[in-house]
This record gives sequence, structure tokens and C-alpha cells, in this order.
Amino acid sequence: MNQENLSEQILKLKKEKDAILLVHNYQRDEIQLLADHLGDSLGLSRIAAQAKERMIVFCGVMFMAETAKILSPEKIVLLPRLDAGCPMAEMADVKGLQKLKDENPDAMLISYVNSTAEVKAITDVCCTSANAVQVVQNVKADKIIFAPDRNLASWVQRFTDKQIIPWDGFCYVHDQFTVEEVETARAKHPDGVIVAHPECPKEVVDLADEVFSTSGMVKFAKESNAKKFILGTEAGMLDRLKRENPDKTFFALGSVKVCRGMKTTRLEDLHQALENNQHQIELDPVIMNRARKSLERMLEYV
Ligand code: 13P
Ligand code: SF4
Repeated sequence: MNQENLSEQILKLKKEKDAILLVHNYQRDEIQLLADHLGDSLGLSRIAAQAKERMIVFCGVMFMAETAKILSPEKIVLLPRLDAGCPMAEMADVKGLQKLKDENPDAMLISYVNSTAEVKAITDVCCTSANAVQVVQNVKADKIIFAPDRNLASWVQRFTDKQIIPWDGFCYVHDQFTVEEVETARAKHPDGVIVAHPECPKEVVDLADEVFSTSGMVKFAKESNAKKFILGTEAGMLDRLKRENPDKTFFALGSVKVCRGMKTTRLEDLHQALENNQHQIELDPVIMNRARKSLERMLEYV
């Protein structure tokens, strides 16, 4: 089947199965085009929590589909590729975090949604890159254990006097950005706005003009008067921003950085997923109930 036929079949199956298609901003262009909702982790979590459809098909990575299942446990949640993983989510483990919690009984554990369901289950409040600052500022604790991203922790620390104890995790895609890449881009595009994701290293964030979550980037690119943007984030963002802002130009900061987990899902996988109801996300109900509390607290905050 060619791409056009596959896309048509997907839309037909989606209707037949009463499914909603949630797609992250880093997905392949052809998948983005089929989305009912295209967005960041926070926006898609909110939609997953309120979805009316019987089935949620999540084109993203495992922790996103798990989050959708935790927030809507009565629904069938499908992840088209089981190998669509986020290595950062695997970097924090329950045993290590529990030890940190025991050593700091006055601290709250705030976990980035890029974490396992088990980690969410021992977390006080979850956050995403879009609301991490607000969550940390608003929780009733002056000491925070922040997992798993050390770079997001460092970004949040700029906005609070609270003590943040960071977990030493990172995103292998965003952690590749360098000061040299920023300096080269500045020299090459003096009229460009450099926008970085808060998962980038601290030195890169220090030099960027703006720092946003992926949906923050969408809003900024649309509303800004600037015409040229240099993006310190995953390549999928370039596809969306170019498509939605044909009068503006977008460049990758340095070399193009690709998240393997995000790009593993192809139209064929999405088609198979809908045809065969695969792969259904199943989680331990006890873990889900605990994890739901930390996610719902996040949704209450912002
Ligand atoms: P956003 O919440 O900004 O979309 O980020 C998710 C993610 O995985 C970034 O690497
Ligand atoms: Fe995980 Fe990084 Fe990929 Fe986002 S870009 S899903 S944080 S590996």
C-alpha cells in the first residue's frame, strides 16, 4: 500500500474503532498529519484524561502511552511500537529514589512525566517541561528531589530559592547540543532567534534566547515577529513549525538531532496497531492508582 492509501485506511479504521489519535510533536511528518491532537506531553496528557472515545492510540513513546492509560484506565490504550522508548525514563529507579526520599524525609519528590509508572507511583507530583517551574514553585515544600532530568532540574532552579536535589538523568538527544553549536549558529544567523528545550545542557540554555517545551515553541513561533528561528530540540519540531509557518524559516541548532524512540513509529505500524488492536498498554492496578495521584496533582497545578 502506498502512503496515501495507508493514511486513508488509518483514518477509516480510526473511525470504525472509535479511536482518538494522539501524536507527539517529534513524530514523523506523515504521522503528524493524521493526528486528532498534535502536542506536547502536558497537552496530550490532558486530552487523554478527558477523551470520550473508547480507544486511545498514542504515537509517541512508552511513558506517554502509560500516562494516558493511568489517566484513562477504562480505555484501551495502544502504542503502535513496543520499542518506542525514552531512555531517560529508564534512568531513574524506584530503589535509588526511595533511598533519596528516606535520606531527605522533608523533601517532596517531583518527577518529570518522562519516567516509569513505578517511579510515578512513589512520586508526590509529576510535571512536564511546560509546567515544571510552576509545579516546583507551588508545592508546599522547600526541598525538592527532582527526577530524572538534571538539565530540567537546573532550568527550574533559576526560578526558585527552594533546594533542588537533582537525579543525574538526561535526554541523550538534547544533551548533545553544545556551546560551540550555539556560537556557530549566532555567527551564521545573527538575525535568528535561538530557542532551546530545557532538556539541553545548562551552558546551552544559558546562551539561548528563549527556552520552551515543544508546545511553547509552537506558540512562540506563531506569535513572534521574528522571521528566523534556530531550534535546539528534536528534528520533528522543525517539520511542524515549517508546515505551520510557511512565511518563516527554521533551522536545526548544529547537526540535526533525532530521537530513535520517537521515529520508530511508521504509518505501517499505526495501520497494524489499529487493525490488530496492538500493543495494548497494561499496568499493575495498584501502581496505576498510586501513579494517577501524582499525575492528577500535576493537572491541578497548572
Ligand atoms: P515536551 O513535553 O516538551 O513535548 O517534551 C517531551 C520530550 O520527550 C522532550 O524530549
Ligand atoms: Fe526521551 Fe529525549 Fe526522546 Fe524526549 S527526545 S522521548 S526525552 S529520549
